[in-house]
Amino acid sequence: MLWPPATTAAMARHEIKKQAFGMTDSGEPVELYTLTNANGMEARIMTYGGTVVSLKTPDRHGKLGDVALGYETLDGYVKNSPYFGAIIGRYGNRIGKARFSLDGKEHTLGKNNGENMLHGGFKGFDKVVWKAKEVKSKDGVGLSLSYVSKDGEEGFPGNLTVIVVYTLTNNNELKIEYNATTDKTTVVNLTNHSYFNLAGEGSILQHELMIDASRFTPVDAGLIPTGELRSVKGTSMDFTQATLIGARIDQQDEQLTAGRGYDHNWVLNNVTGSLALAARVYEPGSGRVMEIYTTEPGIQFYSGNFLDGSITGKNGQVYRKRYGLCLETQHFPDSPNKPGFPSTVLKPGRKYKTTTIYKFSVK
Ligand code: GLA
Repeated sequence: MLWPPATTAAMARHEIKKQAFGMTDSGEPVELYTLTNANGMEARIMTYGGTVVSLKTPDRHGKLGDVALGYETLDGYVKNSPYFGAIIGRYGNRIGKARFSLDGKEHTLGKNNGENMLHGGFKGFDKVVWKAKEVKSKDGVGLSLSYVSKDGEEGFPGNLTVIVVYTLTNNNELKIEYNATTDKTTVVNLTNHSYFNLAGEGSILQHELMIDASRFTPVDAGLIPTGELRSVKGTSMDFTQATLIGARIDQQDEQLTAGRGYDHNWVLNNVTGSLALAARVYEPGSGRVMEIYTTEPGIQFYSGNFLDGSITGKNGQVYRKRYGLCLETQHFPDSPNKPGFPSTVLKPGRKYKTTTIYKFSVK
């Protein structure tokens, strides 16, 4: 008889480990958690920014490789990170002119992106230390992260209590559940800003992408949506059929010029609010496939246009332009100023709850 039985051996690897990961500039200790599922897939998540630091998934030969961009140590994240792997809030993406009105009251926010606010302001949820609690179920291993954003923080009204639960399932999924409640009417739009490269290195232009969206939200030069929901048909924004990211990225197109490539919100075809497939990425070299399921109405596809080779990340890799891609599930940018977009308003007594799953497999 084989001892220990295979299932026990596998389950033994379904675990979570905690280690110290340094300190922030203000002296707050940061912890790094390593989650491993029964198949050996591994996710490392730290309490600073609730950041996914690494994500090791098998290629078609079963060899594990890190598919997330980031730094080896805390220092890089604290000093200069383009939101690598972080939780984004209180409002993911842009709010035009860094202001909005709620119940007749105007709220002024920090302009950290030209005239606009980006990703929650100067000190968004990506730059705070979250409180962590380990959670283990038969489904997988997880980490529950919580943070209380004070009334007035970065200009937003209401004390917002946020709980984000990451679960690494035995189905090779990284599941993210976002929960929030408030004591004053506010706006909320939470996402994760992981940069993926399914080859583990190099450009993402040879990755194939499908987005289940017939429309997108065109933007102005400051990347603020005009309010229009425009058909992707016949444009370089059409990913309804799997297409190489590099196929049309340098075409003459006012939208691609504004984004310096892809940096847009797609209007997902699933409007039910229940979990559905939003996008699929395939990297032919490694065979890796990543599927994204979400309850959200939108997804920002950002092709890493602002990466410029100035960052050296994990394993000495130099992150050049378009060496990583982000698929940020979300409500549409600038919704607080766009009455025609699905609402991002959260009222006291109501629960904000969204779910996104990144599922990994091979082809
Ligand atoms: C988001 C934005 C981009 C860029 C990146 C971070 O995805 O849409 O324009 O700011 O974050 O560099």
